[in-house]
Amino acid sequence: MPKDPSSASLAVQVPGGGFSGPHHVAIIMDGNGRWATQRGRPRLFGHHAGARRVREVVEACPRLGITHLTIFAFSTENWKRTQVEVAGLMSLFRRYISREMRALAAENVRVRFIGDRVRLDAKLIELMDELERLTAGNTLVNLTIAINYGGRDEVARATRRLARDVAEGRLNPDDVDEETLPRYLDTRVLPDPDLVIRTSGEARISNFLLWQSAYAEYEFIDTLWPDFTAAELERLCRSYGKRDRRFGGVKP
Ligand code: IPE
Ligand code: IPE
Ligand code: MG
Repeated sequence: MPKDPSSASLAVQVPGGGFSGPHHVAIIMDGNGRWATQRGRPRLFGHHAGARRVREVVEACPRLGITHLTIFAFSTENWKRTQVEVAGLMSLFRRYISREMRALAAENVRVRFIGDRVRLDAKLIELMDELERLTAGNTLVNLTIAINYGGRDEVARATRRLARDVAEGRLNPDDVDEETLPRYLDTRVLPDPDLVIRTSGEARISNFLLWQSAYAEYEFIDTLWPDFTAAELERLCRSYGKRDRRFGGVKP
């Protein structure tokens, strides 16, 4: 049974600078292709450069008070890309997991994957399972990697499971409220994101965490993902600390 992080003994750290930052940051890591094109290189060169940025960002989380980091690596729509790019990305994910597995485990990072695994190859699924298993007891940072993830697909799959529970008598339709569906989502053990960052200058969500981001704060920044740094993450966390989150209410 996965532990519910809200009840886990995750000491929420106050960032070094004493500001009140986001606890859950979600990132749409966009712009790898353009970064490579600007350098006259194939798109996959940008994806490899992008993957290398992840470690610095994960390592910055504890001092910024970030307990949960969720990163969008491949969407349900990304299958529309060329076979070469898709195959290159799948191979990159396998290599990334194999290469980073020991470091993530040693750095007390708990890794989870969200998204639909059915279209992924068996070797990749095996590596994902292994990384989840190996880091299951870790508590410093919860890193969630979204692969073949789409918010609409996630809600559709959740609804299918919910409908099955109703049909088989485990759930009463009159008891379905806005607390019910999240228990069927891939993110069921995760808190909602406080801050969603998208790099590369596009101001859209592209099907990321649709249900969960209802009250998230957003940052759309021009930096292309392979140029993103821990310093920029810190700047965005500080700026988040100055925002007034009202959740529909009125502050006295
Ligand atoms: C994001 O970078 C990574 C994935 C979607 C897999 P892109 O590949 O979308 O880069 P751009 O947007 O074309 O520059
Ligand atoms: C979103 O980026 C998906 C990921 C970052 C994995 P895209 O590049 O696929 O999104 P669009 O096509 O610009 O909306
Ligand atoms: Mg893109």
